[in-house]
Amino acid sequence: MSERRQPFVAGNWKCHTTLAEATRLADDIKRRIGRLRTVEMGVIPPFPFIERVASRLAGEAIQVGAQDIYAKGSGAYTGAVSGAMLKSVGADFVLVGHSERRLIFGDNDAVVSAKLQAALNSGLQVILCIGERLEERDAGEAASACQTQLAAALQDIPKQALQNVTIAYEPVWAIGTGRVASPSQAQEIHFVIRTWITGHYDSDVAASTRIQYGGSVKPDNISGLILQPDVDGALVGGASLDADSFSAIVTASIDSSAEADSARNRF
Ligand code: 13P
Repeated sequence: MSERRQPFVAGNWKCHTTLAEATRLADDIKRRIGRLRTVEMGVIPPFPFIERVASRLAGEAIQVGAQDIYAKGSGAYTGAVSGAMLKSVGADFVLVGHSERRLIFGDNDAVVSAKLQAALNSGLQVILCIGERLEERDAGEAASACQTQLAAALQDIPKQALQNVTIAYEPVWAIGTGRVASPSQAQEIHFVIRTWITGHYDSDVAASTRIQYGGSVKPDNISGLILQPDVDGALVGGASLDADSFSAIVTASIDSSAEADSARNRF
């Protein structure tokens, strides 16, 4: 039997918090869950607060991520932030392809692919976000939309680099709407993603790649999601801005994945 992948729960703070609020949030999260070891955790503050948050979380089991990266290195690119800069302030990983980047800032598939390459070349881990829009789901194209995004983003990524990539399935219609995907809707697409990875890499890579679910994850809906065999954690937006709810989501992820493990071992 294959080992259960360790759950990975990350909180995307998006364009929220001031320096004082980000510092307090990091301290509150650290106090509640900083010592947990059976789950991988991350927080993703806005760029200006990464260094402060990373220093408050130094030595804890909570990684720090960035919300975006510019694909070219240093140069005359006013307003841009490179991978080397992110590394130098303590970022461990970066989000690439978030739907808000795609839809608000125009990050198309080529941009997402270039950012993914740049991040890996800079030594950052990546959470690659994919997910269908409501029109695509309604047209029965949820799976194919996700496969297309995967193919575009991962086209030049060799097998050994995939160990540095987590996939986040974030259906656009579930983000910030309170309309969470049902556990079976999430499982269906997570299975499509894992099957795609098997076909384009191999079954070992597919078995070890973590696939997070994101979109209106809250303490009261995480358990049903994480019990699904192909759901390996969560990418949390709004609920990650509250230390209590983020911590509750993290601890429920451990409890539920342990429950899923023991159920699997029974049969
Ligand atoms: P919400 O949890 O606020 O729906 O946001 C999800 C998300 O976009 C995480 O990246």
